[in-house]
Amino acid sequence: MQIETYIHAIPDYPKPGIVFRDITPLLANGDAFRETINTFLARYKDQGITKIVGIEARGFIFATALAYAMGVGFVPLRKPGKLPRETVSQRYALEYGEDQLELHAEDLTADDNVLIMDDLLATGGTVLAAVEMLNKLNVTIAECAFVIQLNELPGAKRLKQANIPYYTLCSF
Ligand code: PRP
Ligand code: ADE
Repeated sequence: MQIETYIHAIPDYPKPGIVFRDITPLLANGDAFRETINTFLARYKDQGITKIVGIEARGFIFATALAYAMGVGFVPLRKPGKLPRETVSQRYALEYGEDQLELHAEDLTADDNVLIMDDLLATGGTVLAAVEMLNKLNVTIAECAFVIQLNELPGAKRLKQANIPYYTLCSF
């Protein structure tokens, strides 16, 4: 199955000049969604992964499905002000402006071997913030997994330069 077929390109959304890669047709198709998760499952099931860290919001969809299929825990990386207990946080640059991610510090320990998951890799700012946070907790990062990589943006190059292993199912 070509999962690219289920990812629609929406020109000039949310701003002129941006081609938005919409994953909702993939999610709405049971076979395509299951095959996406099964492809990740085949890659990660025997790698000793103990937790999957998913990035709000679209990353949660793939990370929770895979965590369930693998029988491992799911840990959410959330936008600020959503988590009630002690957090680790990291600010990061977006193409325009800044944002922040937070994580419940108690949810991960130094013996965890973690897979980071998001739907899409663009500038890499989001995933690199996630990596920084996990490094603060001395957690091992097995790999960063994405459904989509945008080749015109520097995320993949930045991960390579930082020696952070990553895997993507398709690229545009
Ligand atoms: C999108 C996407 C990634 C991030 C990738 O999230 O889901 O998390 O951008 O971009 P980057 O590589 O340039 O950092 P967004 O902040 O739009 O949030 P959402 O998942 O809540 O829609
Ligand atoms: N997040 C960052 N850039 C994006 C794009 N072009 N399409 C969908 N999500 C994105």
